[in-house]
Amino acid sequence: MKVLGIVGSPRKEGNTSQLVRQALDGMMGQGVETEMIHLADYDFCDCRGCEGCRETYACVIGDGMQKIYPRLLEADAVVLGSPTYFYDVTALMKAFLDRLYCFEAFDDEDRSVWMGVNEALGGKLAVVISVCEQSKAEDAGFAAKTMAMTLEALGYRVVDSVQIAGLFAKDEAGADREAQARARAAGRRLARTMLLKQRIREKLTTQV
Ligand SMILES: Cc1cc2nc3c(=O)[nH]c(=O)nc-3n(C[C@H](O)[C@H](O)[C@H](O)COP(=O)(O)O)c2cc1C
Repeated sequence: MKVLGIVGSPRKEGNTSQLVRQALDGMMGQGVETEMIHLADYDFCDCRGCEGCRETYACVIGDGMQKIYPRLLEADAVVLGSPTYFYDVTALMKAFLDRLYCFEAFDDEDRSVWMGVNEALGGKLAVVISVCEQSKAEDAGFAAKTMAMTLEALGYRVVDSVQIAGLFAKDEAGADREAQARARAAGRRLARTMLLKQRIREKLTTQV
């Protein structure tokens, strides 16, 4: 079982990075293989809306996303993390989410009929983590919701949405034991849900 952690902050050693790392560490000892990537390390453009992916469910743009797509397809679950930038995810995370449009399938005649490719294949699991500087919930805006709703549309079940407030400077998460514990607990819950899924599938397969 594989989990891919994806960090959407341009600050590679920042709060989001540290908390995604904690979530992945929370899976330790559960038989899960983890990998963490920083979107800032990949050179990719915005979705062009060209619909070149319609027939194949593969993006036709030959840029850095082509290095991420295979890892996403291989992973059984993802942990997405983004700081809040003006009440939403970073532009980096939004560009990444939009480039997942290739994994959305639509009926040829009725576009209100649609399904995520992952959903058609049995569904995947996810955790989202958002970080913001202010302490009031409204100042955190929509970052967690943007990631969660997109993942759900793509056939992921979001088992936990961790919203951490009050972190500003890039190393503050390192001293915030509560934030770290919340991220680790979310990671553990994700791993336990993956194990449960595996157990159900094994049981049902042997019964057939
Ligand atoms: C362009 C920009 C916009 C921001 N907008 C918000 C905001 O709307 N609400 C908030 O609470 N914090 C906001 N912040 C603060 C960051 O969310 C905060 O510093 C966070 O800890 C950064 O995470 P990182 O260390 O992973 O980059 C903003 C920061 C930047 C640079």
